[in-house]
Amino acid sequence: MATVTAAWERVCRVEEAAHDTPVGRVVGSSGQDRDRVCVVATSDGEYVALLDRCPHRDIALSGGVVRDNTLICPGHFWRFELPSGTRTDLPDRGATVYPTRIVDGWVEALLPAPAAPQSIREWLLAQARQD
Ligand code: FES
Repeated sequence: MATVTAAWERVCRVEEAAHDTPVGRVVGSSGQDRDRVCVVATSDGEYVALLDRCPHRDIALSGGVVRDNTLICPGHFWRFELPSGTRTDLPDRGATVYPTRIVDGWVEALLPAPAAPQSIREWLLAQARQD
């Protein structure tokens, strides 16, 4: 059985990522959160890729705004420093940030492998433990 590992995925063209405008893309077909990626170009010319889901609620960070290298969630206005993704007022609640690289004019992000599918029994047990 082949082992699925993290993989570099193309997210958007470099020119699509304006300095203060997050770009949201779906870059996979796993149906899992890892497919949702947000790219932000910082004022320092760095491209930051994040999970496009706020750690607070299921709101896309790409719908937010960027000011002074801080990404502000459109949900409840939590602020995340870029490039670290650290929440400005609660450092232990940061956004998920992925490594990036530029290849042939594309911003690529190193995304985790999709989680292995669970059996119905495993899923039900996991749900029961959360209640
Ligand atoms: S959903 Fe992002 S701060 Fe609440």
